[in-house]
Amino acid sequence: MPGNNIQKIRGYIVSMPSLPTTVAKVMEICNNPKTSPTDLDKVIALDPVLMGKVLKLINSAYYGLQNQVTSLVRAIIMLGVNTVKNLALSTAILDRLADKSGFRALNMEGFWRHSLCVGVVAKLIAKKKGVEAQRLDEFFAAGLLHDIGKIPLNNALSEEYVRAMGLADRERIPIHLAEKRSIDIDHAEAGSMIAEAWHLDGPIADAIRFHHDVGLYEGKNADIVMAVAVADYYANREGIGFSGCLYPEKLPPEVFERLRVPKAWLEEIDAAVAAEIEKASVFLKIK
Ligand SMILES: [Fe+2]
Ligand SMILES: [Fe+2]
Repeated sequence: MPGNNIQKIRGYIVSMPSLPTTVAKVMEICNNPKTSPTDLDKVIALDPVLMGKVLKLINSAYYGLQNQVTSLVRAIIMLGVNTVKNLALSTAILDRLADKSGFRALNMEGFWRHSLCVGVVAKLIAKKKGVEAQRLDEFFAAGLLHDIGKIPLNNALSEEYVRAMGLADRERIPIHLAEKRSIDIDHAEAGSMIAEAWHLDGPIADAIRFHHDVGLYEGKNADIVMAVAVADYYANREGIGFSGCLYPEKLPPEVFERLRVPKAWLEEIDAAVAAEIEKASVFLKIK
């Protein structure tokens, strides 16, 4: 019964461990444009694990600094409030969801590699496009989390998900259409339910909801939504990781127009992708 399936997904999402209080607090204070590094320092200093992650990130090869940074405030100033927010969010979500045992129909490694690739490519496009440095990590987080809705579908309805993957294969259709047909809810909708449960809004929630429906998107985060759709297309085309989609839909040409990026850029960022995935996987500890 299709209605039943949606109930099951809802039940699974409700039972998922919620984000830790510190992360929720970090999100809340970062949403205030007046937030200063000191405000953020006060919250993060209460959470040794998160504090360790922030310091580890600033001292990682990713930033290539000469001298070690040991002060949290200094690390926050150097990384930027937005980067710290997205780091807190991405790692908290991965800690909760990257549990191998939960993966049934989808292959976990392929799924996270796909997700990392989409995050990295969305960020590379944004960088090349000249998006301000403080927003770059938002592109990364949106890409990393865009397919998050596949997790409850895969875990709460694994048999049905195997069937949906079979249907996509047989009929050569994108996985989200097969999900909708065989489960009655697709991963963009399930992902939206997660975003709602975790009070995520703004660009990340929009990318989760609209990455397969870019034509319907009219909000103010079109650059991130389009960048994620393009990055998703790239990851599928290049076969980097595997998200369960062998027959992705063609990207409507207006996506590149709305993003104000020529399609040829995908070839130009090519050389950087593998190295960036490596770096990102090291600090997120996805292997
Ligand atoms: Fe997707
Ligand atoms: Fe995807």
